[in-house]
Amino acid sequence: MKLKAIQQDFHKALDADYDKEEVDQFFFMICDYYFNVKRITLAIQPDYAISEDEAELVFQALEALKRHEPIQYLLKTTEFFGLTFQVNNQVLIPRPETEELVAWIIESKLEEIKAPLRILDIGTGSGCIATALAKHFEHAEVFGVDISEEAIKVAQRNAEINNVSVRFIQSDILTVDPTIIADFALPFDIIVSNPPYVREMEKQQMKPNVLNHEPHLALFVDDANPLKFYKAITDLATKTLVEGGLLFFEINEYLGNDMVALLLEHKFKDVALRRDMFKRNRMIKGVQNK
Ligand SMILES: C[S@@+](CC[C@H](N)C(=O)[O-])C[C@H]1O[C@@H](n2cnc3c(N)ncnc32)[C@H](O)[C@@H]1O
Repeated sequence: MKLKAIQQDFHKALDADYDKEEVDQFFFMICDYYFNVKRITLAIQPDYAISEDEAELVFQALEALKRHEPIQYLLKTTEFFGLTFQVNNQVLIPRPETEELVAWIIESKLEEIKAPLRILDIGTGSGCIATALAKHFEHAEVFGVDISEEAIKVAQRNAEINNVSVRFIQSDILTVDPTIIADFALPFDIIVSNPPYVREMEKQQMKPNVLNHEPHLALFVDDANPLKFYKAITDLATKTLVEGGLLFFEINEYLGNDMVALLLEHKFKDVALRRDMFKRNRMIKGVQNK
């Protein structure tokens, strides 16, 4: 079968649910993943054909896309901060706004803090933040914590494939197991977290690819206590960050003011909210001020 004909099938099946360009992107990603056929190859060889068996693989992927399964889970891989990450449906797919958070950490005046940096990523998921920071700060000691055993396995693999050393620990950050604190021993220079922050009341705004396929453990919090992770982590940060150490969070865009209040209550200074590329308040930073 000619790949160009299958591309038309993709448009017929998916254009009602996705942008046309996104459909093309899915199609080219699938051709690259299964057959190592690049977009440019199809442009040069419009009659490029595959066998019936090979076509079957592409049509299975098409069925999954019709069910709104994220392409990153289908292809088991994604990119974050210029690095390749393996993903499965036990971990959140890394988002562009989280790349912006990593960029903010990197551009902060870390040279004022002693080297080597000690960095803790809480709710590490795929390990994207921890791994990207370990890659950038070559001499840093980086730790990642997650409650999910499966996420820890994925994060470990991602650190390995990106050739960095990160120590991952499975633990519940809400109960803050004293053995983890003992494990950490020395204070941190940076604590970063992108914890679950979507309120149940916000579920109806979510797209089916997220709501029906990404892990709810990574996404949702009760309407009654939407900052529960932030409260626990901020409290932990007051005990485990050095003086002048930095606390960074990705946040719910509707809870920016509450987050500023939370950090100020815990005596953090130079508290700053930051907007993402869509001008939504999506990040906050504070400086430990014991
Ligand atoms: C929003 S995801 C962030 C994943 C990754 N850091 C990222 O930015 O793509 C939140 C993560 O917090 C983890 N998590 C949820 N509850 C937790 C808890 N009680 N203790 C530790 N981690 C938790 C989830 O398993 C999930 O991996």
